[in-house]
Amino acid sequence: MSKHILIVDDEEGIRFSLRGILEDEGYRVSEAQSGEEALSVLQKKCPDLVFLDIWMSGMDGLVCLQKVKELHADLPVIMMSGHGNIETAVQALRYGAHDFVEKPLSLEKILLLARHTLEMKELRQENTMLRQAVSLDSDSQMVANSPIMQRFMSDLYKVAPTNAWVLITGENGTGKELTARTLHRKSKQENAPFVAVNCAAIPEELIESELFGHEQGAFTGADSAKVGKFELANGGTLFLDEIADMSLKTQAKILRILQEQSFERVGGTRTIHVNVRVVAATNKNLELAIEKGEFRQDLYYRLRVFPLHVPALRERKEDLPRLIETLSAHVERKYSMKAPLFTDATMKVFEHWRWPGNVRELMHLLERLTVLYSASCVDFHQLPPEMLEDIDNIVDLEKMPTEPFVFTAHISAEGFLQNCLHLDYKNAKHAFETYYLQHKLEEAGGNVTKLAETIGLERSNVHRKLRAGKETPDAVAE
Ligand SMILES: Nc1ncnc2c1ncn2[C@@H]1O[C@H](COP(=O)(O)OP(=O)(O)OP(=O)(O)O)[C@@H](O)[C@H]1O
Ligand SMILES: [Mg+2]
Repeated sequence: MSKHILIVDDEEGIRFSLRGILEDEGYRVSEAQSGEEALSVLQKKCPDLVFLDIWMSGMDGLVCLQKVKELHADLPVIMMSGHGNIETAVQALRYGAHDFVEKPLSLEKILLLARHTLEMKELRQENTMLRQAVSLDSDSQMVANSPIMQRFMSDLYKVAPTNAWVLITGENGTGKELTARTLHRKSKQENAPFVAVNCAAIPEELIESELFGHEQGAFTGADSAKVGKFELANGGTLFLDEIADMSLKTQAKILRILQEQSFERVGGTRTIHVNVRVVAATNKNLELAIEKGEFRQDLYYRLRVFPLHVPALRERKEDLPRLIETLSAHVERKYSMKAPLFTDATMKVFEHWRWPGNVRELMHLLERLTVLYSASCVDFHQLPPEMLEDIDNIVDLEKMPTEPFVFTAHISAEGFLQNCLHLDYKNAKHAFETYYLQHKLEEAGGNVTKLAETIGLERSNVHRKLRAGKETPDAVAE
C-alpha cells in the first residue's frame, strides 16, 4: 500500500503544490490547515510521515510537534519554515523532529527527504522486529528445576558478574549457547555487545580476518575495511563456540590474542587494544583432544578459568515438564499453532527416553508433534517408534490412564482451553480442574487455606482435589 503523508500548513498554496508533487510520486496525501486540525486527524489515524510548518496562525508548529510526538513517538516529522531561523530548527530537532527544510521549498529536496525518511522508518521497524525475533530466542530463560541444574545455575550466577573467563562443556544440544547468553545477561556488561563466533564454521584462511578484521585492500576481495569480532565485542562478551574444531594454527593465533588482548587488523599496522570477556564452548572432550595432540594445552588452561559443565538431559529428567511447557510456548510462537497436550503415558515415555540429542532433540520433537497433532492430546503410540523400543519392560503403558498430563503454569489460558475442546468430557473436566487449582494455588502463594477461602471451598476438600489432580480423573469426579 502506498505511504501516507500529512501536510500541515496554513498557506493553501503550499499545501496545494506539496500535494501535487507527492501524489505524482504515488504517495497518499492528507492536509491540515492548522495544528489543531492536524492533531484531530492524528488522533484518528497515524500517517507514515508529516510535513509541519513552524509559523502558523493558531497553534505554533513547535507546540504542535510536541503534541504529535506525545501521540505517535515514532512518527517522523519534517519541519518547514520560511524564516531560516537556526535556533528554531535546533529546538525542533530537540523536540524530536526528524529533519528541517527551509522555504521557499525546493520540490526536488522535498521528494528526496520524503523518500529517505520513509526508508529509514522502514529500516528502523525492520530492525525492531528482527531484534524482537532474536530476543525471543536468545532471551529465553533457562529451565532448571532439577537439583543438578539448580547447582549448575548457582555456579552460573556466581561466576556471571565476576568477569572471569568461562569454558562451557556439555553434549550436543544441552544448552551451551543459552548458558553463554545467560552468563552475559547476568554480567556487569549486559548492555555491552555479546558476539558469537562459531569457530567450526569459519574456513582456516578467513579466521584471522573474521576475528581481527582487515584493512581495505589487505587481500584480493577486501574491497572495504572490516571490523573483526574481537573489536565488535569490545567491552562485552566474545563467545567462541565449538573451539575444539579450530586448527592448531588458528589455536596458536587465538592464544596470542587472548593473552595480549591486542592485535592488528589484517593488512593494518595500528595496534588495537580490546577488553573482552571470553566464554568458550565445546561438546568435545578437550583432555582427550590434548592427549591426541589436537588441542593446545596452554590454550585449554587459558580458557578454562571457570569450567561449567551442562548436564545431559537424561541426568535431569525432573526438568522435563517445565522444559516441555517452555519449549511448547516457544514452538507456539514460532508456528502460530497450538501445541498438543500429552497423556501420562506419553510423559512416562519421555521420562524413560535417553534423549541423545538433549534439549534440542526435545525441541525438535515438540515442533514435529505440534505440526502433526496441534491442539489435541498425544498418546504414547503417536511418538516416534524408536522411543518405544524398550519401554515395554518398564511400564505397561496400555494400562495407564489416558487423561492429559496437566502442566502447572505458562501454557496460556486460551491455548489450554483450546486444547481441552479436543478432549472428552471426563478428561476435559479433570484437566480444567487441575489447571484452575494449580493457578489459583500459585496466586495464593502456595497457601492452601488462603486458596480455599478465595475459591469458596472447604480446606479439606481443596487438599483432596489437589491430591486427586495428580491421580486419575475418576478421583475428582463428584
Ligand atoms: N535449560 C534450558 N531451558 C530452556 N531452553 C533450553 C535449555 N537448554 C537448552 N534450551 C534450548 O534448547 C536449544 C539448544 O540449546 P543450545 O543451542 O544452547 O545448545 P548447545 O549445547 O549450544 O547445542 P550444540 O551442541 O548443538 O551447539 C535452544 O533452542 C535453547 O534455547
Ligand atoms: Mg551450540
